[in-house]
Amino acid sequence: MNVEQLISIANEIVGPQKGVLAADESSPTIKKRFDQINTESTEENRRSYREMLFTTPGAEEYIGGVILFEETLGQKTKDGVPFPKLLADKGMIPGIKVDKGAKALAGYPGEKITEGLDGLRERLEGYREQGARFAKWRAVIDIDESNGVPSRFGIEANAHALARYAALCQEAELVPIVEPEVLMDGGHSIEICQVVTEEVLVEVYRQLAAHRVILEGTLLKPNMVISGKKCPTQAGVEEVAAATAVTLLRTVPGAVPGIVFLSGGQSSEEATAHLNAINAMGDFPWEVSFSYGRALQASPLQAWGGNAGNIEAGKKAFFKRAKLNGLARSGDYNTSMEKAA
Ligand code: 13P
Repeated sequence: MNVEQLISIANEIVGPQKGVLAADESSPTIKKRFDQINTESTEENRRSYREMLFTTPGAEEYIGGVILFEETLGQKTKDGVPFPKLLADKGMIPGIKVDKGAKALAGYPGEKITEGLDGLRERLEGYREQGARFAKWRAVIDIDESNGVPSRFGIEANAHALARYAALCQEAELVPIVEPEVLMDGGHSIEICQVVTEEVLVEVYRQLAAHRVILEGTLLKPNMVISGKKCPTQAGVEEVAAATAVTLLRTVPGAVPGIVFLSGGQSSEEATAHLNAINAMGDFPWEVSFSYGRALQASPLQAWGGNAGNIEAGKKAFFKRAKLNGLARSGDYNTSMEKAA
């Protein structure tokens, strides 16, 4: 294993002003997104939508890595350039979602376990040959206090799978993005989100150590510590930033080069404001960045609307979100920038 290379890829992805574009929606998820704009989810529509994002001029100033779905890894621009090559040539490192989705955890109603470990070693080898240099695996932790969810067992099972995935990635010389997502759905308070997120991250790092994963060659993709969507009291930006920072400082070893948050259903503006507020708090042992799906894509998706005539508008909308999140990396964003074109 070339450890130096793993470490340098992990650090490059979270270079100055940079974060990750999560464009790895699975076929059912991208269909949901396209339904919102009355666009059919055909292979060609998925391809041309992704081409619009990847060819946005200047996006590479703020996007260090792009997570792709398996289908996209094998697709090309309309001029015949494979997407992994297009991205790499622009300086955006191609990555790949390798999990097979979260399924019901047998014996534990209301909990999920992520599948995809069987055959993963062989799949990773193929993805690397296709140009991927990092990977992503998402574990899903729901909160339902009245039913005792998440259970200790559910947290351990998900952390164990994440660690097995991460060890296999490093063996294949791919940087693992480790994503334990505590969902913001539900009526729980920010305090409960904090308690659960802390327990999850402690267990994730215990399992990563047990599986001999080299933390310097990994990235963490966590949720922010935030109020449940249906909670009657919604924590403000400063409260979210403070609770998130303290939780990560308690649990994430300084050997990890970067933390790249998921947006998880926050609006685009909220996700940027929260990232900015966390970075404005000062120095952390790791880079604090983004790996947003919806928060980077909601506005370009709307601007495009499935219409080839709107490609330029879609690129403009994507560039704006990439840039504002790039500024939020150093606490230099403010909401007045939303009004500027
Ligand atoms: P969201 O930012 O839309 O939560 O997506 C990030 C992601 O990759 C979830 O796995």
